[in-house]
Amino acid sequence: MRRKLLLGNWKMNKLNSEAKEFAIAAKPLVAKARANKIDLGVAPTYLSLATARKYSSKAMIVAAQNVHFEDHGAFTGEVSIPMLKELKINWVILGHSERRAYDNETSEKCNKKMKALIANDMIPVYCVGETLAQYEAGETKDVVKEQILKGFEGITEEQAKKFVVAYEPVWSIGTGKNASTEIAQDVCKFIRKTLKSVVGKSANKIRILYGGSVKPENIKAYLSCPDVDGALVGGASLKIDSYEGLLNNIL
Ligand code: PGA
Repeated sequence: MRRKLLLGNWKMNKLNSEAKEFAIAAKPLVAKARANKIDLGVAPTYLSLATARKYSSKAMIVAAQNVHFEDHGAFTGEVSIPMLKELKINWVILGHSERRAYDNETSEKCNKKMKALIANDMIPVYCVGETLAQYEAGETKDVVKEQILKGFEGITEEQAKKFVVAYEPVWSIGTGKNASTEIAQDVCKFIRKTLKSVVGKSANKIRILYGGSVKPENIKAYLSCPDVDGALVGGASLKIDSYEGLLNNIL
């Protein structure tokens, strides 16, 4: 059985003080989630990671939104794995479509980061998904397959077990235009099949999240799909009431 996972992606939102407020307010939610065998987490900006970690329950996942694959060096503006580890941050989102679009985060780069994270016993949340033009051209599965094959290149069956993959159709992110549950299930099932071709049986252990305009009102339908193990949520994860609504509706 794969544990359900609800991960909030805060993107470039929340001041440090707001991250602290949220972390404290979320404590009872983490306890409720744990009692129901659900993993709960948030991905704040780099500047709020230490604060979120310090004021959250231990069981709260606090994830970074990116990381560099080198440990140190002349990479202005970057943050490394040892820097995250020192703050007890063990999860990292990789390949988010906004980073793919604005920061040249390619699947090849993600692959290097995946390998570096694994070598440090950390957990990558690898995002894949097609643009609107690709969706309309019927290229969804080709795009997602390529992203999975390039991202997981050289990853062993043993290493892959702890991975999380997020399927986020770009056209549904922040647009309020949801992919139907049929699309979400169909593509997540396809992702699992593609993963099987690379990492064998571990594909059954990898949690696959759906993301894109997930709200308290629709989260339950997504999580009822057999190959959707959780949600990566942007906008609806920012306010504690809405975050609580997301959790309550999957209990
Ligand atoms: P959204 O963002 O929930 O605001 O659509 C999801 C994401 O980008 O991870």
